[in-house]
Amino acid sequence: MDFNTLQKKYIPLIDNKLKQLIEQFVTQQTLKDSMLYSLMAPGKRLRPLLVLSTLDFFGIDINETMITAASCLEMVHTYSLIHDDLPAMDDDKYRRGQLTNHQVYGDGIAILAGDALLTDAFYFLSELDLTAQQKVSLIGLLAKASGSTGMIAGQVADLEGEGKTLSTEQIQAIDEQKTGALFEYAVQAGCILANQVEKMPILINYAHHLGIAFQIRDDILDCIATKQQIGKEPGRDSALQKSTYPQTLGLANAYEALTEEITSGLSDLSYLDEKDLNNALRQLLLQLNLEK
Ligand code: IPE
Ligand code: IPE
Ligand code: MG
Ligand code: MG
Ligand code: MG
Repeated sequence: MDFNTLQKKYIPLIDNKLKQLIEQFVTQQTLKDSMLYSLMAPGKRLRPLLVLSTLDFFGIDINETMITAASCLEMVHTYSLIHDDLPAMDDDKYRRGQLTNHQVYGDGIAILAGDALLTDAFYFLSELDLTAQQKVSLIGLLAKASGSTGMIAGQVADLEGEGKTLSTEQIQAIDEQKTGALFEYAVQAGCILANQVEKMPILINYAHHLGIAFQIRDDILDCIATKQQIGKEPGRDSALQKSTYPQTLGLANAYEALTEEITSGLSDLSYLDEKDLNNALRQLLLQLNLEK
């Protein structure tokens, strides 16, 4: 299936599942409102779509359990955005085309809505109609990807990198952790749900490059895009003196690094013997390209 078809078909199903999970489970009204406020705002749903693209790559028929598993990843991602926007972190006012969670609900509720999205995602995974082995693998790998050696380590290094001049290797390591880790988990989850662990190492390599490319693209868009285009305020990385490719190495080098990551990801995919050039994994990566 090509990526556009996959998006059209599954974004509404992911959205419905996210809504249903929270509405049926969360009882505290303020907490529910705050969780749904960020979750139901128009995100691109790239990480759950990557889980489903991986399943599609293996020719698996996607069922509701798989959509729930993919939606749990979107919950963890959304928690990371709510916390990332807090005054003590990136101090942002807009996200997904609307005010950030803390602007509407206050810092305390925003922190707790993030905590709840993170924690509930693991509970929902534990309740899935899968084998115990599959569930332990999904839960363990998601904990690893989002925890202190994955996404959070990257977020710490990102904060510590403010106002400093980091090397390209250091910036790449930040991007790999803060963003790449969840992309890598997405393909791991796809492999586990498909019972196809053999191709996992190659898919992880692909997702590694996809994640870094995605963060470089986000950093370039912060320099060149409008608020309308990205649904968040541009120019924030420069204001916060973040260590990103464009901030540290300049826009031209950032474009080059983006192209390099896309090329490396495509080369990983070429090891998969995938004859269908329209497959969603390939198209997802190619969509990250930005015209100079
Ligand atoms: C934003 O992620 C955070 C980064 C890793 C750059 P997305 O750009 O995927 O945000 P949404 O989910 O579409 O809002
Ligand atoms: C965020 O990176 C990565 C996360 C783990 C949330 P950014 O701080 O660049 O993401 P945006 O630009 O706020 O979406
Ligand atoms: Mg940040
Ligand atoms: Mg941010
Ligand atoms: Mg950014």
